Amino acid sequence: MEGSILITGGTGYIGSHTSLKLLNAGYEIIILDNLSNSCLEVKDRIKKLANKGFQFINGDIRNTNQLKSIFKDKKINAVIHFAGLKAVADSAIYPLEYYENNVVGSLNLFKEMASANIKSLVFSSSATVYGNPGMPICKENTPLNPVNVYGKTKLIIEDILRNIKKADPEWRIINLRYFNPVGAHPSGMIGEDPKGTPNNLMPLISQIAIGRRKKLLVFGDNYNTPDGTGRRDYIHIEDVANAHVASLEKILKGDVLHMDINLGTGKPYSVLEVIKTFESVSLKKIPYEITKRRAGDLAEYYADPSLAKNILNWKAKFDLRKMCLDSWNWQSKNPSGFIN
Ligand code: NAD
Ligand code: UD1
Repeated sequence: MEGSILITGGTGYIGSHTSLKLLNAGYEIIILDNLSNSCLEVKDRIKKLANKGFQFINGDIRNTNQLKSIFKDKKINAVIHFAGLKAVADSAIYPLEYYENNVVGSLNLFKEMASANIKSLVFSSSATVYGNPGMPICKENTPLNPVNVYGKTKLIIEDILRNIKKADPEWRIINLRYFNPVGAHPSGMIGEDPKGTPNNLMPLISQIAIGRRKKLLVFGDNYNTPDGTGRRDYIHIEDVANAHVASLEKILKGDVLHMDINLGTGKPYSVLEVIKTFESVSLKKIPYEITKRRAGDLAEYYADPSLAKNILNWKAKFDLRKMCLDSWNWQSKNPSGFIN
């Protein structure tokens, strides 16, 4: 196929793994990333792994002129839109930045896509849009009621997309709601490398195992779950990346016109199960202490992944052991993460 796929946020955690898969699948890609939460080195590692070049643009989705010139100069067939800020706690402290970056940035991108007549999009939403759904299992038609600013930015973008599609049926949109992506490419060359203190469980455990942190604070062991700790739907990043390739194929073929799709395994694991599995694959002890619950946390939630199976013919392949194994492989080969 002539033309490229524009990947915003393509040097980030999910974007880098997806970019590699797209290159391996034969797509030409252009990555646009402002490097606010990623490193230039990621680009070189993707190229090395793919054994294939691509264009990288150090740029920002909020920069209208830059988007205009990208869409004017390049033949773009579709956009996969990862770029965004994602730290829940930060979103409460810096709401203006979150609305500006995520909502205004996305609006800008969609406007310029429409002007350039590029109407095929895969968007990174989050299970956080369900908020506190009242039942642990989330289906795509579960009511949306995000409880934090980050989640609200995602819901606003989803709503904008619903409105765009209604007004202009030519758009083809797949809106992916990720549950808890973890793990890394099996080579250990790319992986999750949060800047500053990680917020999420797996990078915290990995950094404890490598000796960068002393112990894990387990947020509560008195939930109504089998061992009392919170249960989540962790999903291997390779499965997440494959789902993007499948989504892109569907919209490029015109098989899907507009769909919200959960990306999860449907099988939740507790904090203690993650610790135990990580210890068994890394042969490292993960010291932990039970503390009080984290504000805003739910006892458990997980995806009903059946729509992804029906629509994308995609199903998560990897289990918790493989997720921990690849997280550890990445962390042990890159103790300080990416260098540059
Ligand atoms: P990430 O921070 O690793 O990647 C996001 C990338 O976007 C980074 O490389 C960052 O530099 C870039 N970026 C941010 N703002 C930008 C801007 N204005 N212009 C250009 N580039 C910009 O995050 P990730 O984990 O790869 O997540 C990707 C997307 O998926 C995000 O939109 C996130 O909200 C969403 N998501 C992630 C998770 C998760 O657990 N990782 C869960 C649900 C949804
Ligand atoms: C968090 C976000 C959610 C976001 C998701 C993926 C909050 C309240 N929710 O959800 O919006 O979509 O990340 O990016 O921040 N845990 C500990 N100790 C820690 C860290 C986590 O015990 O130091 C526990 C949590 O209580 C939870 C589990 O580990 O039970 C997973 O936590 P985390 O990785 O932060 O994911 P979510 O809670 O699903």
